[in-house]
Amino acid sequence: MKSIAASPNNSLGYDQLRAVAWEDGHLKLIDQRRLPGSLEFLAIESAAAAAQAIRDMVVRGAPAIGITAAYAVVLAARTRYQDDSKNWTKRIQPDLNVLAAARPTAVNLHWAIARMRKIIESGIAGDPTAPLLFEAQALHDEDIAANKCMGALGAALIENNCGVLTHCNTGALATGGYGTALGVVRAGMARGCISHVYAGETRPWLQGARLTTWELAQEGIPVTLITDSAAAHLMQTGKVGWVIVGADRIAANGDVANKIGTYALALSARHHGLKFMVVAPTSTVDLATATGAEIVIEDRSEDEVLSFNGQRHTPPSVRAWNPAFDVTPAALIHALVTEKGVIEGPTHAKLSALMRS
Ligand code: MRU
Repeated sequence: MKSIAASPNNSLGYDQLRAVAWEDGHLKLIDQRRLPGSLEFLAIESAAAAAQAIRDMVVRGAPAIGITAAYAVVLAARTRYQDDSKNWTKRIQPDLNVLAAARPTAVNLHWAIARMRKIIESGIAGDPTAPLLFEAQALHDEDIAANKCMGALGAALIENNCGVLTHCNTGALATGGYGTALGVVRAGMARGCISHVYAGETRPWLQGARLTTWELAQEGIPVTLITDSAAAHLMQTGKVGWVIVGADRIAANGDVANKIGTYALALSARHHGLKFMVVAPTSTVDLATATGAEIVIEDRSEDEVLSFNGQRHTPPSVRAWNPAFDVTPAALIHALVTEKGVIEGPTHAKLSALMRS
């Protein structure tokens, strides 16, 4: 991984933010660990470096992880073809495996690799770089288009002058661009139906505090940050009508795996009579996983909880448990917004029908 010069003033215009890009023959990632302090980019030259960037949270968010993997497949194919033009399709297999193993919960990673694998197996004659790059770029463009479509569909569900609460970062930084739940926030703000956005800080990586607030600030969207533990109190005060979140994997019955804390928000929203919206492209739907109970939940290092900013703030003998995601049962979800349409009250039958459409 190589650092590339940062933008001089850290500021970007409307819909210009791209966490993942293909530039000058390599993969370029915003280093999200450095935000909001500085906007730095890393040049990624291999599948192994891309997998490491995904593991280390340089790039995160289910769709952004998938798009990163797709471009990483292009890098791997280019290298394998240069090394051994006859056997590159065989020699690329370990690269695909390394990428697939980078993080376990976001199904978009596997979805993107499967799409690239189809091109690899299609019998490309000669250098595979161009056809694979074409597919990776198509997948990236489709993600942005899906987000814009979901933004409009989701915003149309929100009554006028509504406050909303969002969790983690589901914006341009987490996707190909524009965002899923944050796309609905963007569209809802533009329409005037959303009056205010609250962002949960999202321990322990602070995606809400560091990334969502920064991303919204780029576009002048006012946001109020709350601690994760203030969410139920916020709901009780009547300041929000909807909770709007993204997803890392949606099981066939509509159960949703998303950033840890999402389930608690859904329970609390139900108690307070508020609505709960999940916004995710169909690349996040995994019909091969029957229910949320089967979704592999990533356990991350306990150091992420025991320390803050590299400083340990707990006694040395204390241990921590750090699940990165949880599962919200379908029954707690009012609206599942995808680019293919909205499902109100998701069920197995409704989700299968939507995926067939
Ligand atoms: O651990 P992260 O930051 O990758 O988790 C991200 C989330 O949980 C997002 O809500 C999800 O990926 C949807 S992003 C559009």
